[in-house]
Amino acid sequence: MKVGLFDSGLGGLSILREVLLQAPGLDIHYHADQARLPWGPRPPDELRQYCRRITAQLAGRGCERIVLACNTASAVALQGLRNSFPELQFVGMEPAIKPAARLTRTGTVGLLATPATLAGELLAQTRARHAPHIDIVSDPCHGLAEAIEAGEPTRVEELLQAIITPMTRAHADVLVLGCTHYPFASDTIARIAGPTVAIVDPAPAVASQLLRLIPDPAAGSGSRVYSTSGNPELFNARARTLLGDRVRAEHADWAANA
Ligand code: DGL
Repeated sequence: MKVGLFDSGLGGLSILREVLLQAPGLDIHYHADQARLPWGPRPPDELRQYCRRITAQLAGRGCERIVLACNTASAVALQGLRNSFPELQFVGMEPAIKPAARLTRTGTVGLLATPATLAGELLAQTRARHAPHIDIVSDPCHGLAEAIEAGEPTRVEELLQAIITPMTRAHADVLVLGCTHYPFASDTIARIAGPTVAIVDPAPAVASQLLRLIPDPAAGSGSRVYSTSGNPELFNARARTLLGDRVRAEHADWAANA
């Protein structure tokens, strides 16, 4: 069974990395909409259109399970996609507030996410259901996904200092990585936050959720297809660093107006 994953860029590779750790034999198509990154500040209607077009293309290439390897896309488009493509099964992401609420001792949690994720209904629901008594200090992390995408460690460090310091000052003892780009900066995040702060990356749980939807995860042939609406050579170089695997992406601008 073929699985399609998509994100605005390289961030979703943090999910793919976990999926491949748990089921290396799966057949995969990963699509990155790098021509439109960042998605986080874009209007929800526009994002929903992108997600619909990308899903239709992945389905046309035989993907029966679709992973929204992107918190932003999940926040605005997951429910609509389930309604529009009833023949497919979707795995989306929600900010990992539930495990964070269990872990915190101070009752304060830091949430790093994009503006669309922070404004989304999904976060409000998750919060009301699983963490009504927890204080959440959030930051829309302007520029962070782009800096991680471009591989700019000095800029990433500078942004993270400004984002995390108010969280630890407010006594947050758990930080939630609410965007799939951020696990690629987890060493820097851990160093800035200090040893007493726990970091929650939802990628392993998302991968496990996907595998529950696949009857025989070991049965695939391990094929990998990558596509990007951006520059394939740049994608290949960065993806190789992040995944530790040789990658050959093709160019495909699926979210563009047909
Ligand atoms: N990786 C994405 C997420 O999980 C989106 C980053 C962006 O393009 O703003 O939210």
